[in-house]
Amino acid sequence: MPESNDVFEIMRTTRAMRRLKPDPVPDELIHKILEAGICAASGGNRQPWRFLVLKDQEIKKKVQAYYKRAFDEVVGPRYLSSAPPPGSSTGRYRRQHSAVEYLTDHFHEAPIWIVACLDHGQDTPTRSSGASIYPAVQNMLLAARALGLGATLTSRHLQFEAEVEAILGLPTGVHSYAILPIGYPLGNFGPVGRGELSEFVYLDRWGAGYPGLA
Ligand SMILES: Cc1cc2nc3c(=O)[nH]c(=O)nc-3n(C[C@H](O)[C@H](O)[C@H](O)COP(=O)(O)O)c2cc1C
Repeated sequence: MPESNDVFEIMRTTRAMRRLKPDPVPDELIHKILEAGICAASGGNRQPWRFLVLKDQEIKKKVQAYYKRAFDEVVGPRYLSSAPPPGSSTGRYRRQHSAVEYLTDHFHEAPIWIVACLDHGQDTPTRSSGASIYPAVQNMLLAARALGLGATLTSRHLQFEAEVEAILGLPTGVHSYAILPIGYPLGNFGPVGRGELSEFVYLDRWGAGYPGLA
């Protein structure tokens, strides 16, 4: 069953699903995903998030041109010259690269995009700004997974932030933090690949192992 209600199972299997069918996604499901998004926390519960739902093919195609340019100029070469991340392998990393390339070419074909934005108003964005939007983004990824929909957190468009935000028609003071292409997945959901907890967790002193962790 692609759908699930077990939150731990959902977290274990919420992978970047980059190969999507072009089939339309019912608005009712998009509403559910957005509702999950605004259940997240934001600093002071100010809820500065704004979500631009995009179905317009022409706008998506214009953004995809910049997304592809960023792949050709930065991301593609970086993949080719970097080692597999923790919990991955050369083969798995190569498959990831090819999925990233696939999404690059088909970005605009995802039936729905949710562009996650923050309304900064007069404030200058700071290092902590994203903390009021990425919890909502993660909630939406989990909700999409729970509904059997594939999605990916993407932020590569930020390499051409000004150009893309102009195409998106964002008003002054509003900035984009992620674009989530969403659709029915072509492949199957599966477990995420991560390193062991012991690689990342310390007890009391930086570098000291936490006994009992795998
Ligand atoms: C901050 C951030 C930015 C990301 N940007 C992109 C992106 O632009 N394009 C993309 O294909 N994946 C993007 N990803 C997805 C990651 O590459 C992906 O989550 C990671 O490789 C782990 O794979 P998994 O989620 O399938 O386990 C991004 C993830 C994060 C957290």
